[in-house]
Amino acid sequence: MTLHRILAMLATVAVLTSCGANSETKTDTAADMPKAEKKVYGKITKVDVGPTIDESMVKSGHEVFETKCSACHKMDERYVGPALGTVATRRTPEYVMNMILDTETMIQNDDTVKCLLQEYLVQMPNQSVDEKDARNVLEYLRKEGAERQ
Ligand code: HEC
Repeated sequence: MTLHRILAMLATVAVLTSCGANSETKTDTAADMPKAEKKVYGKITKVDVGPTIDESMVKSGHEVFETKCSACHKMDERYVGPALGTVATRRTPEYVMNMILDTETMIQNDDTVKCLLQEYLVQMPNQSVDEKDARNVLEYLRKEGAERQ
């Protein structure tokens, strides 16, 4: 085996290890990190969410989710992508919004998403959702998250 190949293998092991390091105590994904430490990537830098959940936004968000997301995501089990039932409690609102609106930037830069890509081996496509619909989807996911706490 050449030195080059050995180095390439070591690099792969290092990447896999850095992704798996946080998964030992968690069950749902291999890439959980404390919310507060995360740098924000993508075009949405701040999302204001109130303490209450807006039911009319939840309803619209649910409809968008059914047409644009449910082909790959379920709430409580992994599918083509991760289960999203608790995503709004595990991740920041900015993270969720950027996954929807600026998917490519997140896949390229965010360590959590890079690790998810390694695990799921499918690149989430940008679903061309507008910002209002994305915010409604976030509200729907917040409701699902609240029901699971
Ligand atoms: C073609 C399949 C596909 C579609 C459609 C899709 N996703 Fe994804 N999604 C994925 C995959 C796969 C991942 C894991 C990251 C990766 O591999 O790119 C992911 C990751 C995510 C994450 C991060 C999950 C976590 O645990 O951090 C969120 C949030 C998300 N998707 C939301 C959505 C929403 C909302 C929609 C609809 C607007 C959607 N996705 C549509 C496949 C998809």
